[in-house]
Amino acid sequence: VSPFAPRHLLSIADLTPAEFTALVRNASHHKQAIKSGSVPRNLLGALSGKTVAMMFSKRSTRTRISTEGAVAQLGGQPMFLGKDDIQLGVNESLYDTALVVSSMVSAIVARVDKHQDVAALAKHSTVPVINALCDSFHPLQIIADFLTIHEAFPARPTAGLNSLGMEGLKIAWVGDANNVLFDMAIAAAKMGVDIAVATPKGYEIPASMLEIIKQAGSSVSSPGKLIQTNVPEEAVKDADVLVTDTWVSMGQEEETIKRMKAFEGFQITAELAQRGGAKKNWKFMHCLPRHPEEVNDEVFYSPRSLVFPEAANRLWAAISALEGFVVNKGKIE
Ligand code: CP
Ligand code: NVA
Repeated sequence: VSPFAPRHLLSIADLTPAEFTALVRNASHHKQAIKSGSVPRNLLGALSGKTVAMMFSKRSTRTRISTEGAVAQLGGQPMFLGKDDIQLGVNESLYDTALVVSSMVSAIVARVDKHQDVAALAKHSTVPVINALCDSFHPLQIIADFLTIHEAFPARPTAGLNSLGMEGLKIAWVGDANNVLFDMAIAAAKMGVDIAVATPKGYEIPASMLEIIKQAGSSVSSPGKLIQTNVPEEAVKDADVLVTDTWVSMGQEEETIKRMKAFEGFQITAELAQRGGAKKNWKFMHCLPRHPEEVNDEVFYSPRSLVFPEAANRLWAAISALEGFVVNKGKIE
């Protein structure tokens, strides 16, 4: 890697625990400051006169709006390039596109299908690339999710510089082992948060991803533990936060019928939380978009549900990531 190569955000795995902590803390700080009417001085016009390319080959509500909004808040101009707008994938290779686009913008935010595509884009780009969701990771979502957990649970007194004070909390993920889970498990390992994952048989975390999650905790003195099971009740036991996501991620639509059958019994309900023995004060999270099969309305619209503040936190996560990777060129503190 050339010393001039830009630093990219492809996964939470790219961050040290201190850097992840800083991104969440900065998001929280900017949220409070901007909501009370004062834009932090280092952000004012930080991207003035600059452009950020948003190359999205899949649909998006939250990631698109939060990123476009974040670029605008920093004084820059986002360029939304949907799959029907540019030559990529139809008339032009990823390599050529990376060289051309990065020669004219200050950063690229990319939502692609395969992780190897966003990794290739990053490899050839001369400006920072931020992953806006691929089949393996969703780092912007997880910065927002940990901000949301940070706000919902008082920090443990152990909170040092490298930590959000979340040690000992437990997340239960019930549903599909997908891109959002993978980055969440990586962040949990780094933050000392335990995560229990219940998936149907045949839908477990792949071995290669387990290795990445294990690696994520290797630099931490007491990393969060990862537990895998095929029994939702087991995952939910003593959990502080119950989390799920769609059973059919974008690109898996052809498997819908098979998946609906395989995931029967994995819907998050208050009865499941009760049967499994979740903590009394358990909360619910979901990155959205949501379908009723993975969580019923009673939980989704209940006071336990953090889903709408979680979605709103995407804006602050995007501002924090742009600050770290674009304004401060990968120096995250
Ligand atoms: N959670 C999330 O990334 O939503 P979008 O697909 O709407 O961006
Ligand atoms: N797992 C979902 C997340 C959408 C934000 C998907 O990849 O479609």
